[in-house]
Amino acid sequence: MAEIAVLGHGVVGSGVLEVLLTHRESIARRAKEEIEVKHILDLREFPQLEYANRFTKDFNDILQDPEVRIVVECMGGLEPAFTFVKACLENGKSVVTSNKELVAAKGALLLEIAQKNNLNFLFEASVGGGIPIIRPISQCLAANEVSEIAGILNGTTNFILTKMIREHMGFQEALALAQELGYAERDPSADVEGADACRKICILASLAFGSHVYPQQVHTQGITKITLEDVAYAEAWGGVIKLIGEVKMLENGRLAIQVAPMFISRESQLANVDDVFNGILVRGDATGDVVFYGKGAGKLPTASAVVADVIDCVKHFKARKYLFWEDGKPDYVEPFASIPGDFFVHVKSQGDSAEAFALAESVFPGAVRIIRRDESLGEAGFAVKAISISGLEEKLAELEGRGAKVLNQIKISDF
Ligand code: HSE
Repeated sequence: MAEIAVLGHGVVGSGVLEVLLTHRESIARRAKEEIEVKHILDLREFPQLEYANRFTKDFNDILQDPEVRIVVECMGGLEPAFTFVKACLENGKSVVTSNKELVAAKGALLLEIAQKNNLNFLFEASVGGGIPIIRPISQCLAANEVSEIAGILNGTTNFILTKMIREHMGFQEALALAQELGYAERDPSADVEGADACRKICILASLAFGSHVYPQQVHTQGITKITLEDVAYAEAWGGVIKLIGEVKMLENGRLAIQVAPMFISRESQLANVDDVFNGILVRGDATGDVVFYGKGAGKLPTASAVVADVIDCVKHFKARKYLFWEDGKPDYVEPFASIPGDFFVHVKSQGDSAEAFALAESVFPGAVRIIRRDESLGEAGFAVKAISISGLEEKLAELEGRGAKVLNQIKISDF
């Protein structure tokens, strides 16, 4: 019998209990041992539950119980999750977590403590919910040199953008609908401003390239400034707008990493990842592109990934798993301003559109015009090729100096 404890009985924690109880026998067969939840830590009372007698409000009941060898952390947030997880790893207990904030901020440290103590620290559920992605990158694709990862990593924003693209719903209306349907928190800022996707791409980058990338090192832009005009321009260009977390290994050995809305070609594997679904493309030198698709959030998909890690842990009590990355270096990430790319630019001049285009083309020779439906007077949308962010900003300042108003600039993806 493998005794475990669960920290937090919220959406994911209660899902873990549900999956463990519903699939008790098949899980025991796969783990080659029965798995029993001995303690559940939560400050709330759940008297109606059949396992109500296993709740405790005191973390020490878990930490000091030598029978508990695996602790599942589903509390979310950095504290007290970090203090509890660190204490578990320092006291001989392996840890499984779904907490992306924790892994993105403290992954290198916790992996090091786990390694020192020959324990497992597993976090398949922290990125992509029910989509297998941590294990595939660290194990199945281990023979490859990964050159790039690009993903739609946040279901809330993907739902909002899908409504804007398919139904021409405005951002605020789509956000309100996402909240009504339970796809967005009452405070959706971490989703719509890109912080959630940033944590996830940092975890994937750390794992694929072996050195911790911290969220504060990453340029992060959300979708709050995306308008229906931008959506129409993406369509006229031949694609859609998606919020993408992207990391690329550059020839100088640094990582170009960012979270931003991007134009995605209709031919891209990620273009049809819609609604609350996530999609992650991993480019390997031997495999080419491998794409993972599925539910990136939700009680049971996320709980399924957590329980799979618990099973893995039970099967590997005596052997530490393969996951590891080193702590990061400050110059490991390329300065955002020097990352080159193609961009869509949307401007408005005081005259008509012909004047706006003429002005744009004098500043950006070779710019490709994009004409959208219902274009308004004085508006011009165009694509520019291979320019660094700092170069782009210089030229946009020049455009503004010559009387045009820059309404938006959006990266054009190359996958
Ligand atoms: N709000 C997040 C999302 C939850 O929509 O992806 C999972 O991290």
